[in-house]
Amino acid sequence: MSDDLISERHGAVALLRLNRPKRLNALSDALAAEIASALEAADADDTIRAIVITGDERAFAAGADIGELGQPGGPRLEVWDRVWSIRTPIVGAVQGLALGGGLELAMSCDLLVVAENARLGQPEINLGLLPGAGGTQRLAHALGKALAMELVLTGREIDGREAYARGLACACVPAELVLRTALDLAASIAARAPLAVRAAKSAINDAFELPLHRGLMRERTAFRALLETADGREGVAAFREKRRPTWTGA
Ligand code: CAA
Repeated sequence: MSDDLISERHGAVALLRLNRPKRLNALSDALAAEIASALEAADADDTIRAIVITGDERAFAAGADIGELGQPGGPRLEVWDRVWSIRTPIVGAVQGLALGGGLELAMSCDLLVVAENARLGQPEINLGLLPGAGGTQRLAHALGKALAMELVLTGREIDGREAYARGLACACVPAELVLRTALDLAASIAARAPLAVRAAKSAINDAFELPLHRGLMRERTAFRALLETADGREGVAAFREKRRPTWTGA
């Protein structure tokens, strides 16, 4: 791994810090591949139960690396499929700029904590482009058509408060509290039954992929499967016995 991505461990939480400050954490192909590899490594590690991705005070990430956009074939967008395949919950901690591919990385997270003064937007239209890593689809899902159209067609940025008010983020706090809040949220998730957490993430993501009835059936199947797991039985037994459950991840 290069210095562009710093990987830390906080108990059962993996913390990935983008570290290209001179480029406002712009997502070069190399950095995007490192992020995907680090996420996959965390996902394959049974002792890691949640992941936090963050940047620095100035930028979460200012987009794809514009210096690479002119190369033949453009940026290697297929790397995003790897990011979207991660089963472990990912919390994005956004301070400063989350623009273009930076906002798309943030929206690829399952939960977002944003700074009140964060700046989020899809400015690709100013380059004669459109978002290429999920921005049109995820903004339309998260914010609705009207605001998604406005942001993508004009490049207007929103701040963290507006992102929170419109449902893009689950928490909006002063900048200095963003990482702490994201790590606490991740630790809270990491303390839950791991199979149930992954199944719940998958089921909620299905809501954006499947017709309602199929999504409901998928949820029912997952619920029944969890009832048969050791943790499912432990959770029910612990409630009855008025004690705290002990999760084994089985
Ligand atoms: N790619 C490469 N370098 C970038 C960059 C990017 N996306 N964003 C900023 N930088 C570089 C700047 O070129 C500058 O480098 P130098 O010091 O060598 O000149 C350095 O980071 C600092 O940036 P600025 O001096 O521009 O800082 P600022 O505070 O004046 O402006 C900004 C900040 C408004 C974010 C401005 O940098 C900017 O507009 N950046 C581009 C944002 C953008 O258009 N992102 C979308 C990229 S396309 C994309 O993401 C496609 C996709 O969906 C996959």
